Amino acid sequence: MLSGDIQNNKLRILGKLTASLIHEIRNPLSAIKLNLDLIKMEGNLLSKDVLESVNDSLSATDRIEYMVDSLLSFARVVTHGRENISLNKITLNAVDLLAVKATKYGVQIKHNLDENLIYVYADENKLLQVILNLITNAIESCEENNGGKIVIKTLYKACKDGGKVHWIIEDNGSGISKENQKKIFEDFYTSKENGTGLGLSVCKMLINEQGAEIDFESKLEVGTKFKITFSVNRMRKLYETENSSNR
Ligand SMILES: Nc1ncnc2c1ncn2[C@@H]1O[C@H](COP(=O)(O)OP(=O)(O)OP(=O)(O)O)[C@@H](O)[C@H]1O
Ligand SMILES: [Mg+2]
Repeated sequence: MLSGDIQNNKLRILGKLTASLIHEIRNPLSAIKLNLDLIKMEGNLLSKDVLESVNDSLSATDRIEYMVDSLLSFARVVTHGRENISLNKITLNAVDLLAVKATKYGVQIKHNLDENLIYVYADENKLLQVILNLITNAIESCEENNGGKIVIKTLYKACKDGGKVHWIIEDNGSGISKENQKKIFEDFYTSKENGTGLGLSVCKMLINEQGAEIDFESKLEVGTKFKITFSVNRMRKLYETENSSNR
């Protein structure tokens, strides 16, 4: 089951990659189809052989279009639905899943979890994908740092508008330069030899889908801190909307 979660994460990233690729294929494909249709309309000016080739090409583009559309529906991210879930539990699960990788990089992972915590109304699988991506990045940022350290915190802060739940992950790794900070949430931006550059863009998409926010602070050669914030009021509204229609 644990390795299944990592597998899910890879599949999600692959899904996003596929979706982007499909998007890039569709536009030129429509242009080709349109041009073939135009040529076909001039059928009486064409020899029988040429007309046959045009028809074959049109059938082939139809077939590509069909396959691309099927792949797109397959690649769409599946929703598992929101529930009241424990952030502490997901955190411990993720730390467990990445323990081997952390050891390999000589990185220590600590957590500081709010005892009174704290349920968030969200999709458990999606939050697990997010934290796995963030911890993986944090571990990888410590590669050349002998004393690599990561701290994950959960905390609740009361405030007038109903309170906020924060989920924080902090590392003392390489940090991100001011220039690169502008790019890290972009699709395909990576500074790694084998990176896809989709990890953080997937995180942002999933967090926004949950009605939460993600931001970060970073200093080169000091480290990076990612913070996810859930608004209690917003979650309450989501809960009421999604559960009142079932009554
Ligand atoms: N904690 C961090 N410390 C330093 N740099 C980071 C951190 N998190 C992200 N980055 C930078 O942001 C880039 C984009 O991260 P993202 O997770 O989207 O892709 P990736 O890690 O490069 O590739 P993949 O996630 O597919 O393996 C990284 O290549 C790295 O340069
Ligand atoms: Mg990554």
